[in-house]
Amino acid sequence: MGVIGSSGNAAGRPVIDRSTCTVCGECAAVCVGGVLVKCDREIRVDHSAPFDCIACGQCMMVCPMGSVAVTGRKVSPADLVDLPPPELRADFDRLEALFLARRSVRRFRREHVPRETIDKVIRAAATAPMGVPPWEVGILVFHGQDKVRALAADTADAYVKLLKFLEGPAGRIYRKMMKKTAREVLESFILPLGRALVDGRKRGIDYVLYGAPAALLFHTSPYSDGADAYIACTYAMLAAESLGLGTCMIGCLPPVLDRRKDLKAKHGIPEGHTPRIVLLLGRPSGPFHKGIRRPFLSVKYR
Ligand SMILES: Cc1cc2nc3c(=O)[nH]c(=O)nc-3n(C[C@H](O)[C@H](O)[C@H](O)COP(=O)(O)O)c2cc1C
Repeated sequence: MGVIGSSGNAAGRPVIDRSTCTVCGECAAVCVGGVLVKCDREIRVDHSAPFDCIACGQCMMVCPMGSVAVTGRKVSPADLVDLPPPELRADFDRLEALFLARRSVRRFRREHVPRETIDKVIRAAATAPMGVPPWEVGILVFHGQDKVRALAADTADAYVKLLKFLEGPAGRIYRKMMKKTAREVLESFILPLGRALVDGRKRGIDYVLYGAPAALLFHTSPYSDGADAYIACTYAMLAAESLGLGTCMIGCLPPVLDRRKDLKAKHGIPEGHTPRIVLLLGRPSGPFHKGIRRPFLSVKYR
């Protein structure tokens, strides 16, 4: 039995082509799950390994002879791609230049973002690592300002209800019972943020999704580590940046939407899934003239 996911608990099925396998053992060395085992004269497939084959595919990718084929868990040898030549790979300076030039963009031109560009961003994001393959992250593409605005408007309306509760008598008791740090964050950030979003809605200003021409909403199945969505979103953000798009991650929407079954259904979030993070996409309306370096809270070598 393999690791459970939304498509079931079937394990991957690695098959070794013994006519070409040289028993070099690379596949077994890379298989930390212990499914592929190097024996004297062959590579053995051991399905009794603790969580069986998760179909990460590394055995196929490391085999110099192309003798390993893994199928199942949504993967097959057909998914393998040739490695890009070294001259196409970003070196540190280019990568850091991209990072430094990126900013959270909240002013967008009205320009439409072509579907092919969004598809490219998604294709690049899908190369990100995930806790256990296959992906348990889905993406909803809100393509066009009207669709993005509709989502933003519903979110601002959801904040109205949330504020009503948090600022009412029951909410005040609830706040007293919260952990000190959580209450501090609520009172210094979440409540003022909610009030600003609601106020913006009243004045016809979209402070939730900033009138972006496109937005990607990353959601996860109940089997996913939520971190997968944030990592995928980060990859998408950097891919979009490389295509000249401005981006902004939006975290103020998902938790509020998650409390509203009606809105989740209305906006196409599959039942049982958790909205995690939104990525805005669009042509930025103005350039930044400087970047910034911010130190981490701490960096300690031990
Ligand atoms: C997880 C996450 C959630 C965020 N949520 C929001 C948001 O709801 N609204 C917003 O305007 N910016 C949001 N941001 C953008 C941050 O405010 C921004 O990254 C930060 O101010 C630093 O600015 P920079 O990205 O230009 O370096 C979010 C960023 C991250 C990483």
